Amino acid sequence: MTTLLQINASISNGNGNGQSSQLARQFVSAFQKGNPGTKVMVRDVAAAEPVPHLDGERFGAFIAKPEERSAAQQAVVAYSDALISELKQADLIVLGLPMYNFGVPSQLKAYFDHIARAGVTFKYTDKGPVGQLTGKRAYVFAARGGVYAGTPLDTQTGYVRDFLRFIGISDVTFVYAEGLAMSAHSKEAGLAKATAEIERLAA
Ligand SMILES: Cc1cc2nc3c(=O)[nH]c(=O)nc-3n(C[C@H](O)[C@H](O)[C@H](O)COP(=O)(O)O)c2cc1C
Repeated sequence: MTTLLQINASISNGNGNGQSSQLARQFVSAFQKGNPGTKVMVRDVAAAEPVPHLDGERFGAFIAKPEERSAAQQAVVAYSDALISELKQADLIVLGLPMYNFGVPSQLKAYFDHIARAGVTFKYTDKGPVGQLTGKRAYVFAARGGVYAGTPLDTQTGYVRDFLRFIGISDVTFVYAEGLAMSAHSKEAGLAKATAEIERLAA
């Protein structure tokens, strides 16, 4: 039985209309049809439960010795541990990825900052860092107003791929819904292309 973690990162989720989250949900529904009994967890990092930015105090909690952590530091670490625990349980990670101002949502960056923990999700070795969250697959559903895939303006794909690899997740597939803000026609075409890919991938 598969355990799936859907991560939504759209600031529009509050209205239920984030395109990236809708595509992620479409994939999850199609996957569930083919894999009944799949356990689904949902983590909304931007709208429902925004992840706070990593600041000096929060990072200080990560690197403090466990026995010396204050109550506030313990709470910060417990929050990070809970995010990591969900990831560890999941065999399959489904990420809805909006593009905002040429990058990933700042709350998704904050989420990444809370799950990159030395000695927990990656280890430093004499051969460089080694990711600890191995044996997982990820699907990323990227929604964009413009068209960037395959061009130097796509700063998201390399960054997200590199980050996931860093924590041990190297089997990552991207699906793009692009041109969503260009015209009604390009939006329809971008969503139709992504939907076709979702059906193929989930089959
Ligand atoms: C604050 C903001 C910034 C955006 N910046 C970009 C951008 O830099 N490039 C782009 O192609 N689209 C941009 N868009 C359009 C979004 O990528 C598009 O609306 C996409 O559907 C967002 O995903 P979501 O619907 O899941 O939130 C921006 C949208 C918002 C709200």
